[in-house]
Amino acid sequence: MIMIKTPLKFLPLVLLCLVTSIVSAQKFEGLALTPPMGWNSWNTFKTNINEKLVLDIADKLAASGMKDAGYNYLVLDDAWMALERDNNGNLVTDPKRFPHGIKFVADYVHGKGLKFGLYNCAGTKTCAGYPGTRGYEYQDARQYAAWGVDYLKFDWCNTTGINAKEAYTTMSKAIKTAGHPMVFSLCEWGRNNPWEWAAPVGHLWRTTDDIGPMFSGIKKNMAGWSPGSVLKIISSQNAIRKYAGPGHWNDPDMLEVGNGMTVDEDRAHFSMWCMLAAPLMAGNDLRIMTPETLAILTNKEVIAVDQDPLGVEAYKYTEKDSVQTWVKPLKNGAAVCFLNSSFNPRTISFNWAENALKDDLSGMSIDFNTATYNVRDLWAKKDLGKTNKAFSKTLAPHSVVMLRVYK
Ligand code: GLA
Repeated sequence: MIMIKTPLKFLPLVLLCLVTSIVSAQKFEGLALTPPMGWNSWNTFKTNINEKLVLDIADKLAASGMKDAGYNYLVLDDAWMALERDNNGNLVTDPKRFPHGIKFVADYVHGKGLKFGLYNCAGTKTCAGYPGTRGYEYQDARQYAAWGVDYLKFDWCNTTGINAKEAYTTMSKAIKTAGHPMVFSLCEWGRNNPWEWAAPVGHLWRTTDDIGPMFSGIKKNMAGWSPGSVLKIISSQNAIRKYAGPGHWNDPDMLEVGNGMTVDEDRAHFSMWCMLAAPLMAGNDLRIMTPETLAILTNKEVIAVDQDPLGVEAYKYTEKDSVQTWVKPLKNGAAVCFLNSSFNPRTISFNWAENALKDDLSGMSIDFNTATYNVRDLWAKKDLGKTNKAFSKTLAPHSVVMLRVYK
């Protein structure tokens, strides 16, 4: 037998490493080294989902160019279940809306070269009143594994008296034990600061209440509460950027591109989600999307900013006269996004030589006085020359210019 002698003074350190490695072995590693991308049923369809719709969406996801652009998860949100579990406590698929069951849908989605996801909730019931997972974590995880589920979104309704970290940890362990690799998406709306504890537990965690399809302002939804606007959500993200990275992402909620905002607003929303290294879950009706919507969702150069392997979120560099300037460190250079949050046009002028881009989190340090970079406009898809020339442009209301500087 080989004995390894550890001096007594190092024992606490050894124990700490042991505990850390056990905790970090909890989730499936390597599944979301860049922010997950896909489509989710909630933002457009709410509880009105059925088999035909999902198969049609799978067809569109595969054939429209979305899958090629990276959207590879199709996730069914709330309301895929029947209202009661069966006599053995198993979840039951709603037999009317999904007559061939979930396995059939999962197989169809897999047959399109896509991955398949489902939704449930840490509470006793889901937000829409279907059976929640509380007390059934291991049984449900085995069921999902048997169906070939690759992604689980796990919500936070009906959880009075439950500890969030414990509840999500239990489900994470249940998934791992069931043995089928699954992306685990925590959806507790940032209520218990998941960014501080969820990295070993899951691959992404919601940071805010639900998004709504509006850029700014407040609009009550049918349930009588106000979803967050794009600008409101953006305003709370800078402070928590340091918690995100490969395999563990802040999730400012799913995309509302194509759901009623103007084209400029959709482009600004999408750009900022990419700057924030956010998961990109499209939430529009892919069967009827306009060419503009498709062009926004599939702009590969903008998506490349989101998917950059460094996995560092943008920081807010300045805000002046309703123009926010955000900078995202990239493996090669940086992305710079100017966002006009006002209802009036704004003219910006940015002299690179006067703006060193520095970020302690990533170690990025770019001084344009000592190095010249190339500049590319990612929406115009045009090279703009080099950083030895100032950049200026008039931004329409609620629009962005997104640039990439690179060597
Ligand atoms: C919560 C979540 C949403 C959606 C609904 C489903 O509100 O935050 O994203 O999953 O529940 O009922």
